[in-house]
Amino acid sequence: MKNTIAGILFALGAVMLPLSAGHAAEEVALQHADIDVHNEQSLQRGAKYFVNYCMGCHSLNFSRYNRVGLDLGLTDEQVADNLIFTRTDGEPTKVGELMKNGMTAKYGSEAFGNAPPDLSLTGRSRGPDWIYSFLKSFYLDPSRPLGVNNTVFANAGMPHVLWELQGYQTLEHAAEGADAHAEPKLVLEQEGTASPAEYDQIVRDLTNFLTYVGEPAQLHRRGIGVWVLIYLGLFAVFAYFLKKEYWKDVH
Ligand code: HEC
Repeated sequence: MKNTIAGILFALGAVMLPLSAGHAAEEVALQHADIDVHNEQSLQRGAKYFVNYCMGCHSLNFSRYNRVGLDLGLTDEQVADNLIFTRTDGEPTKVGELMKNGMTAKYGSEAFGNAPPDLSLTGRSRGPDWIYSFLKSFYLDPSRPLGVNNTVFANAGMPHVLWELQGYQTLEHAAEGADAHAEPKLVLEQEGTASPAEYDQIVRDLTNFLTYVGEPAQLHRRGIGVWVLIYLGLFAVFAYFLKKEYWKDVH
């Protein structure tokens, strides 16, 4: 039995090792997003940035406005006044509707090469560090159709939509003859309206919001978990006395 288990574990290890090694090789170093999904104000700011800067292209097909409002501590009126800029059949979108937009996959691929994907699950598929680093890594590249490229997602079809806030970065390679192995560096060439620290916070809030959207239940899980542990604790006491009662005559 022991041998079989050891054999299975060994086989699993042998399969997974090359996979993870291959995966790591093609990745650039990501920056730590340092988000906190329990920071309600950060989530509210992230939602505001998302509907203002991202929703023209990206939908959140699995989220309803009022559910997001409920989770983020906003009333339906606040949601309608601050988060809804889309229209459904000519009327302003209602708070109970899904966070969709008018972008079609066909138009998206014609305009950007690749259609802007729905971002409902991106917090999980890419992870917070990836999203955070991606939004900080646009740089000027005249060879690209939209004039920008990205070190985290090479040749991405997405324009640098936050350029007004961040400004523009360039990618600087080490000078000829200098340390040839030095990584190219992103340098802020033209400042935006936000300082670098403010921009980091904006991107952190957006990442926080997309991470929450990827799994809304995580906001409540900790609270439920505490009650489950209290219940198990009480149940253990009862189970102990019950066991004593059942076994008291058996010896
Ligand atoms: C003008 C349209 C447009 C806007 C606005 C826009 N994006 Fe994008 N985005 C794209 C396109 C197009 C892609 C697909 C890139 C590709 O696959 O080459 C993309 C891809 C992404 C991806 C990668 C998804 C994946 O898993 O591959 C993320 C994350 C993302 N966008 C986040 C954002 C955020 C956050 C905002 C708002 C700050 C935003 N985008 C605003 C067009 C847009």
